[in-house]
Amino acid sequence: MILIAGGTGVLGRELAAQLLAAGEGVRVLTRDPAKAERLLGGGVDIAVGDVRQPATLAQAMRGVAVVVSAVHGFLGGRGAGPQDIDVRGNAHLVDAAKTAGADVVLLSVLGASATSPIGLFRAKYAAEEQLRASGVAWTIVRPAAYLETWIDIMRQTAKKSGRPMVFGAGKQPIAFISAMDVAAVVARAATDAGLRGDVLEVSGPRLTMSELAEQVQRADGRTTAARHVPRPMLRLTAALARPVAPAFARQNKAALVMDTTDLGEAAGDAFARLSLPSARTLPAVLTDCRV
Ligand SMILES: NC(=O)c1ccc[n+]([C@@H]2O[C@H](COP(=O)([O-])OP(=O)(O)OC[C@H]3O[C@@H](n4cnc5c(N)ncnc54)[C@H](OP(=O)(O)O)[C@@H]3O)[C@@H](O)[C@H]2O)c1
Repeated sequence: MILIAGGTGVLGRELAAQLLAAGEGVRVLTRDPAKAERLLGGGVDIAVGDVRQPATLAQAMRGVAVVVSAVHGFLGGRGAGPQDIDVRGNAHLVDAAKTAGADVVLLSVLGASATSPIGLFRAKYAAEEQLRASGVAWTIVRPAAYLETWIDIMRQTAKKSGRPMVFGAGKQPIAFISAMDVAAVVARAATDAGLRGDVLEVSGPRLTMSELAEQVQRADGRTTAARHVPRPMLRLTAALARPVAPAFARQNKAALVMDTTDLGEAAGDAFARLSLPSARTLPAVLTDCRV
């Protein structure tokens, strides 16, 4: 049995589907079982729990050989941010896995480091370090930004005006990757014990936010240009919102860093190494992600 914490998310749902199709037993840990049932359909075992509450995790671990952590606290408010979910929540999950004798596959992020300007990336690095020190058999997957996540942001922000929002100048190339392709790598990591002790970095062809906005617009039959949030506005909002709306501040800060910093690309080609099909192109992803 493979337990996916975060199995209701963009990556987690695809991972659950791929593991089920491969004949694996799948259990999803969620705070919201009704949502999980609606999103996942039959075939998946559902366990109610919260990574912030260790007492809720023991039951979810029954019969589990591998735990995949696909949770994050990037969008969470007080008590649910990266320190609460990615650092302490993952520590609880790893402790519970250790007690159950299960391996752990951790979803980190490309560019995770102790000195990253993005708080989530520092939290992911801390989660990696505590996993390495835990004594549990582990695999770490570090993906670049998901195309599906950003296509959705473009569409959500274009809803009223017909013009998607680009945060900053939109000229920084980013090695976006489809969550479906990341799921294939994570599924392999979950089922191949030979990958324990490995860090698998995953990224795709580079593309700027402006290029992504343009291609999403074209796929949706629109020709109108994107709106841009100027960098000084992102900087100001990140500073002013921090005490009152930490998640909003976090998003503005991360957007600013993504617009001004090269977040790099994967070291090595995980798809070739694992004999998986190479990363999908944006047009192929847009065909799957219809409005
Ligand atoms: N999106 C990206 O661009 C990107 C890029 C690189 C890496 N990643 C990493 O990939 C993983 C999946 O990301 P995603 O974008 O697919 O996530 P997502 O769609 O935003 O879903 C987040 C998941 O986290 C779970 N979660 C949040 N707080 C929780 C808590 N306290 N207890 C238990 N579960 C909790 C949610 O479960 P419930 O609501 O059902 O409880 C949900 O399934 C994450 O680790 C993320 O950091 C994402």
